[in-house]
Amino acid sequence: MALLSPSSSRHHPLPLVAALMLLMAMAARPSVASLLYDQVEITWGGDHSFFYMEREGADVLALCLEETNGGSGFASKDTYLYGRFDIDIMLVANNSAGTVATFYLMPEGEVPWAYHDEIDLEFLGNATGEPYTLHTNIFVNGAGGREQQFRLWFDPTTDFHTYSIEWNPKHIIILVDGTPVRAFKNHAARGVPFPTWQRMRLQGTLWNADEWATQGGRVKTDWTQAPFYAYYRNLRVTPCAPSPGVAWCGDEPPESAWFERRLDRAALKEAQEKHMIYDYCVDEKRFKDKGFPKECNAD
Ligand SMILES: *[C@@H]1O[C@H](CO)[C@@H](O)[C@H](O)[C@H]1NC(C)=O
Ligand SMILES: *[C@@H]1O[C@H](CO)[C@@H](O)[C@H](O)[C@H]1NC(C)=O
Repeated sequence: MALLSPSSSRHHPLPLVAALMLLMAMAARPSVASLLYDQVEITWGGDHSFFYMEREGADVLALCLEETNGGSGFASKDTYLYGRFDIDIMLVANNSAGTVATFYLMPEGEVPWAYHDEIDLEFLGNATGEPYTLHTNIFVNGAGGREQQFRLWFDPTTDFHTYSIEWNPKHIIILVDGTPVRAFKNHAARGVPFPTWQRMRLQGTLWNADEWATQGGRVKTDWTQAPFYAYYRNLRVTPCAPSPGVAWCGDEPPESAWFERRLDRAALKEAQEKHMIYDYCVDEKRFKDKGFPKECNAD
């Protein structure tokens, strides 16, 4: 059946069809930079972690942990000084007790511990059906001890959820599915250390921490359930943008309110009221002798 006579084909000029097909192909094709495979390198456990294509344009990195392999990890190829980092993670399913998956920023290479900065998210596994804990900490100049923990309000093992770090000169904000759960303000003027000068690398790991991770270390990793997998995909890095007329984020004048807009304080307050299960700033027992860290009374 010749549906297209030579005359009707003139009404469907080929260049238009070709252009449309090209547009469709471009929309479906991933830009190279969006592949996690291109953005990160496996830093350890390369022989048991792997990438796979999930659907057109999206690859997933599966980190694997077994008793004999000690886990696995990746790091971004690029380093960053300020920025917003979003990644989607699906955590170890079923009995994940003892396992810890992470997503964090840390300086590149080996720096002396006195310069160790870190913005840390750790997902503490649990027995089947028991809730995961998001454990967060912030290290500056080798000192951490700024733990806040949250109970995730969904099952993080059945689907990918977005975890984010926003790091700008005014504050560090940690978000879960776009909801801010933690904000650490830059109180350098009051003598509270804040990471302001070191480029950091984005990292993710899956490892065994059953000495302490689950229910205070009482519940151990059940290796008969191994291998354990945590899945990472869709890393988005958005460079920090300063206010108009300012050359880069680090030059933003101290009195500028530009970065305040990045934090939804009402949403933060609500999330903390609902989901925070530990806050070092209210741990009287821990700080009864030496007093609370300065930042606890600075906001
Ligand atoms: C989790 O348990 C369910 C039900 O027993 C099973 O179907 C599923 O394969 C398990 N998932 C993993 C990742 O082991
Ligand atoms: C695991 O579940 C127990 C019981 O629900 C809970 O007390 C604990 O906070 C959960 N998380 C961890 C990491 O232990």
